[in-house]
Amino acid sequence: MKKIVIINASIRKKSTYSILKRIESTLGNYNVEFLCISDYEVKPCVGCENCLRNGSCFIKDDSEKLLTKISEADGIIIGTPIYLRQISGYLKVLIDRGCAWYHRSPLVGKPILFVTSTQVTGSKQAIKYLNDLAVQWGTINTGNISRKMFDHKKKLPNKQLNLFRYYLEDEHKCNYKPSLKYILEFATQKVLAVTVLPLDYEYWKAKGYIDKPYFYNCKINIFKRIIGYIYYKILTFFITKNKTNS
Ligand SMILES: Cc1cc2nc3c(=O)[nH]c(=O)nc-3n(C[C@H](O)[C@H](O)[C@H](O)COP(=O)(O)O)c2cc1C
Repeated sequence: MKKIVIINASIRKKSTYSILKRIESTLGNYNVEFLCISDYEVKPCVGCENCLRNGSCFIKDDSEKLLTKISEADGIIIGTPIYLRQISGYLKVLIDRGCAWYHRSPLVGKPILFVTSTQVTGSKQAIKYLNDLAVQWGTINTGNISRKMFDHKKKLPNKQLNLFRYYLEDEHKCNYKPSLKYILEFATQKVLAVTVLPLDYEYWKAKGYIDKPYFYNCKINIFKRIIGYIYYKILTFFITKNKTNS
């Protein structure tokens, strides 16, 4: 049975929580784990970059437990209240602790759905950030559900939820059409893997990503393939030249 994790990034069990609970009630055929970040101790990143270079973190808290639960899921739903026009601090701290996922993502090809809850403003900025995160993680972004104080109880949209369910099935992933942004982000990460971090290179090689236009076989037209290839070559040239000069 496919596993889904739902993450509530509010300390309260109020608006975000209730939207997420309504979503959970539509996922009867799956093994769903509902997590509230505030139930876990997640300390802020100290910026040592040991996770990037050596693959481990010195900080002793619950973040590894939480990140492991997320990485082992087949689909991820993240809900956050809007605080000062952005995601909550709880969520940002957790994302920072998973910084290595930008380089070695365990979420490649998994559907992700974002939920925001606000009084009135700020969803747009937060959704932009979260959508970029979906690109960096190589996930299949199946959309956003944003609610304001006067429409919290509005019916859930079928489109995003149906798409989320669709991409949970492995045989559908080949139908995914990553945008050019995804292809260019993949190329950037590949350049870093090939030229900068040895740990990334080992991981990318073992996963078979190095010779591909994207992480896995899916629908990429010739135009995107060519742009991605040229971009990769140019970026590799400049980074290699910079390394030789320094
Ligand atoms: C620190 C803080 C900052 C907030 N910033 C905004 C904001 O920028 N725009 C807005 O419309 N609502 C803002 N709100 C209101 C919350 O986004 C809103 O009440 C949300 O539904 C709370 O979700 P929750 O019930 O799941 O905690 C803020 C609330 C707090 C506590």
